[in-house]
Amino acid sequence: MSQLNSLLNITKTKKSRLEEVDFDNLQFGKNYADHMMYCDYIDGEWQKPVIAPYGPMSFEPSVKVFHYGQAVFEGMKAFKDDHDDVWLFRPEDNLNRINISSKRMAIPEFPKEYFMESLKTLMQLDKDWVKKGQGNSLYIRPFAIATEPGVSASESNQYRFMIITCPAKAYYSKPVKVLIAQDYSRSADGGVGYAKAAGNYGAQFYPTKLAKEKGLDQIIWTDANTHQYMEEAGTMNIFFRINDKLLTAPTNDRILDGITRRSIIQLAKDEGLDVEIDRVEVKRIIDAAKAGELKEIFGAGTAATIVAVEGFEYDDTYYDLPEMKDSFGMHFKKRLQDIQYNRAEDPHNWRFKI
Ligand code: COI
Repeated sequence: MSQLNSLLNITKTKKSRLEEVDFDNLQFGKNYADHMMYCDYIDGEWQKPVIAPYGPMSFEPSVKVFHYGQAVFEGMKAFKDDHDDVWLFRPEDNLNRINISSKRMAIPEFPKEYFMESLKTLMQLDKDWVKKGQGNSLYIRPFAIATEPGVSASESNQYRFMIITCPAKAYYSKPVKVLIAQDYSRSADGGVGYAKAAGNYGAQFYPTKLAKEKGLDQIIWTDANTHQYMEEAGTMNIFFRINDKLLTAPTNDRILDGITRRSIIQLAKDEGLDVEIDRVEVKRIIDAAKAGELKEIFGAGTAATIVAVEGFEYDDTYYDLPEMKDSFGMHFKKRLQDIQYNRAEDPHNWRFKI
């Protein structure tokens, strides 16, 4: 059934797939909600966005995204509170960031009113896919791909912007073990490290596969020039706690400006915590670990939320981290989730009601 909206063309699904999903055993990214949005960029303009049942799409084999990876994406989440209201978290920050990523990848910026209206409509249509309860969310994946057919190596003249959503619980179900990178690099000065460009993630799969073969889950990337400074882990930004000081690397053209990272820094400053945003030397972390002063490391990202690092490997030595009763990571996870699930004051107006 099609419905007209001044901004969107909407076709609702005839039959929901909700009952096919086992919400107690969700695997991240395996089940998609009933509806998706797509919007084409043709002749220099974004056309009217379409909301349609989630399903396959067909493209010519020559479209540029398949050959040159001209693609960007975002990660967001919707949360349901105890009164069945659905909330987004800092959605305009995601729009700003995808437009920053798009600019770097020569993709045209996506208009705010299309983005916000599409999100609202998708959340209204698929509100039953957002489950209540701590840890439950609907993960939202906006992305843009180059859809012009033709393998000449130049930017596309056609794009498709899409939003798909999937019910999600924790991305990591337990604390992770990480490798501090000494061989491979994730990003370089003047590169695309700060952008959520698809290739940034694909390029990590091989070194991460090697790390997994050694029993580690993730890599903390270090600067490409010297491998002496911690940058980010591929699916999240990284925080270190030395005694009662919180440390994280500053964002720059190699590091993603994480929204969870920014929120934690703000909450920590609100509480008067000592937060150092500066280059984090690997040696300082190793020395602190040896002196018993490294209390915790945690990752922060939309999918991951906040996840504890239980230990790390560097120079073929594995360092265990202590189990903290008063963990900063778990404290900020709770503070953040209380805001996201509308259980606490929202002093910075981060929540957005659907
Ligand atoms: C997110 O946290 O939303 C991300 O985009 C990371 C992703 C690679 C799972």
